[in-house]
Amino acid sequence: MTNRLEEELIMKPKVYIAKPVPKEVEDLIARHCDYKMWRKDEPIPESELLKEIADVEGLMTPKGIITKEFLEKAPNLKIVSNIAVGYDGFDISAMKERNIIGTHTPFVLDDAVADLVFGLILNTARRINEFDQYVKNSEWNHHLDSEAYFGKDVHHATLGIIGLGRIGEKIVKRAKLGFDMNVIYHNTSRKYDLESKYSIDYREMNDVLKEADFVVLMLPLKESTYHIMGSAEFGMMKEDAVFINCSRGKVVDEEALIDALQNNQIRAAGLDVFEVEPIDKDNPLLKMKNVITLPHIGSCTRDARFDMAMKAAENLVTGLTGKTPPNVVKELQ
Ligand code: DGY
Repeated sequence: MTNRLEEELIMKPKVYIAKPVPKEVEDLIARHCDYKMWRKDEPIPESELLKEIADVEGLMTPKGIITKEFLEKAPNLKIVSNIAVGYDGFDISAMKERNIIGTHTPFVLDDAVADLVFGLILNTARRINEFDQYVKNSEWNHHLDSEAYFGKDVHHATLGIIGLGRIGEKIVKRAKLGFDMNVIYHNTSRKYDLESKYSIDYREMNDVLKEADFVVLMLPLKESTYHIMGSAEFGMMKEDAVFINCSRGKVVDEEALIDALQNNQIRAAGLDVFEVEPIDKDNPLLKMKNVITLPHIGSCTRDARFDMAMKAAENLVTGLTGKTPPNVVKELQ
């Protein structure tokens, strides 16, 4: 009997893929699973997803909002493969109770996100979007040479990173090797290896806020990080400092950020994430020239998204063949 026939005779586990994925990724899943996939570009409606999970053993999803109620609708579910590195949508205790394997996609998006962080640093400091609009609005009629037009240097400035994980390390590398920056950081655990590799210094969080010219928040969303940046924290930042957030919107008290910007307590902000996504069209941040607002595109490059989908598929298939997938989230290991 050929391997192919053998494969066909073995019952493949049923899975649902909740967003379109590249052909190579679909092919990998097809070899091992009996699958259905949401093929439209717009996100799958919740009601549709709830119908699809009724009889599957595996789910691959870009959002992964996995609650107790969700799991009740999926009695056969064994594994949720999140096509993202963040898994704040996982209700860990509900998943533990049901012995659900939960995986994510670390490493493959670190460089893409770090690039975007630097895009926001450069853009806010040198006011790139603002001056692009200025030129396009035909306002450019003289040589710009006064305080009102000056930007802020990125090179040799102090970068403060709050949350030094995999992406943070990539940011440090760019800052030190590319921009000669002085880097300080705060993290729940000290990163002695990175301190000696890149000559960076550990600080208490408040000291990062007080000393940095650019504060970059790179924290996962958990109970302990919810609204970790509030009015007291923005109040500690330098008046000329820039705030960057490419992690999760809810780690910031957005009202407090808006106040800090409106009262000129800080210079500017570069934001890829918001408390509510998509952002409310009346959000005051949208009217501020010194704020760059992006639609959560940290990992949104062709290569990063391909690699994330492939990694998620490998996690899914491995989990369903009875082995431990390579990227089980640490709370479920
Ligand atoms: C992630 O992977 O968590 C990103 O935020 C999704 O783009």
